[in-house]
Amino acid sequence: MSHARVLGIGLAALAAAAVAYAQTEVTPIPDAAPVETAPLEPAAPEAPATWGDPQNGQALAATCAACHGVDGNSQLDMYPRIAGQSEIYIADQIARFKSGERSDGMAAIMKPFADMLSAQDARDVGAWFATQTSGAGVADDTVIASGPYEGMRFYEVGEQLYRSGDPARGIPACMACHGPAGTGNPGPAYPHVGGQHASYTQQRLEIFRNGTGAERDNDLFQIMANIASRLTEEEIGALASYMEGLHPAADDLVAAAAPVPAAAPTAPVTPDADPVAEPSTVESPADGVPADGAAAPDADASGEAAPPEAGEPAEDAPAEADAGTAELG
Ligand code: HEC
Ligand code: HEC
Repeated sequence: MSHARVLGIGLAALAAAAVAYAQTEVTPIPDAAPVETAPLEPAAPEAPATWGDPQNGQALAATCAACHGVDGNSQLDMYPRIAGQSEIYIADQIARFKSGERSDGMAAIMKPFADMLSAQDARDVGAWFATQTSGAGVADDTVIASGPYEGMRFYEVGEQLYRSGDPARGIPACMACHGPAGTGNPGPAYPHVGGQHASYTQQRLEIFRNGTGAERDNDLFQIMANIASRLTEEEIGALASYMEGLHPAADDLVAAAAPVPAAAPTAPVTPDADPVAEPSTVESPADGVPADGAAAPDADASGEAAPPEAGEPAEDAPAEADAGTAELG
């Protein structure tokens, strides 16, 4: 308990530091920026982590809010959405930032915050963000003027690859691993990719394609490095745009947002939650429909889901407490 309180104070200070950082440091670090922390010596062995505790994770998440948003739906493109991302994937990536294995892109911004987390903290904070609902953006439907995809809408190029791949070029359907609506597969740590900011997705795909970074030996990294090496720049852009608009069908989001606030599912995610089921949902026509404008504003994250509760006490009794405390000061 007292440990928790001490931690709380420390976190508040960190969160404040993160806010200050997020607000001053608006420009992304250029690719060539020297990473001052040279390859670290192997991290000291930590106590093995067990299933994350989302409640403890919620406290830790205050530190992440300045960049990733309170619920993991960052408002700025340069910070990836981590809402709805799986616990295992989050914990794994945090371990890689810490070890220096993931050092490309904007990893230098993330590293100090990863360094502060134990392996168990990483599981806890991952468990918390896993309970949050990811928002989505809008896919680009500009018609392509020339080149191999002339006449198609930009996102359609991505949609086609995402759903069917290109067997002739050895490109598998992204959907096979990341799911028709981009929700990923927590068991093997295939990440949630739906609704992600396109610029971040594009950067990640370029990193995979170039095989840059220190991760070349990593099995999971290698899966994507192989696939991305077959993609053209145009295809990467189109995939990133399609995936930004990708989200579960609106009905699902409403259902997910309304009844269960965050309290219910503290039970650990079972890694074997029917891993193979997803690709078979392919027929469901509603899946993976890109948000072409109209659908987007729905449950689009960042607190939109809250109003129903706040508005509820509307009956009769409301005025008293509300007027007193709210007073708009
Ligand atoms: C100062 C801003 C900042 C803060 C605070 C911050 N992050 Fe990050 N985070 C980033 C940036 C930037 C990236 C993208 C790094 C890259 O380009 O690879 C990132 C990436 C990540 C990723 C990888 C996402 C993916 O899809 O692969 C995870 C997971 C993550 N952060 C978790 C956290 C957690 C948990 C916290 C709080 C303990 C946190 N971050 C605090 C800036 C921040
Ligand atoms: C065989 C399974 C598999 C297939 C097929 C696959 N991926 Fe992945 N994807 C992965 C894994 C595993 C990772 C995590 C890589 C890592 O941890 O370094 C990943 C990571 C990613 C990421 C980074 C997510 C993040 O948050 O940083 C993106 C973007 C992505 N994949 C897009 C795609 C696209 C686009 C396709 C289709 C062209 C595709 N993937 C096909 C397994 C797959």
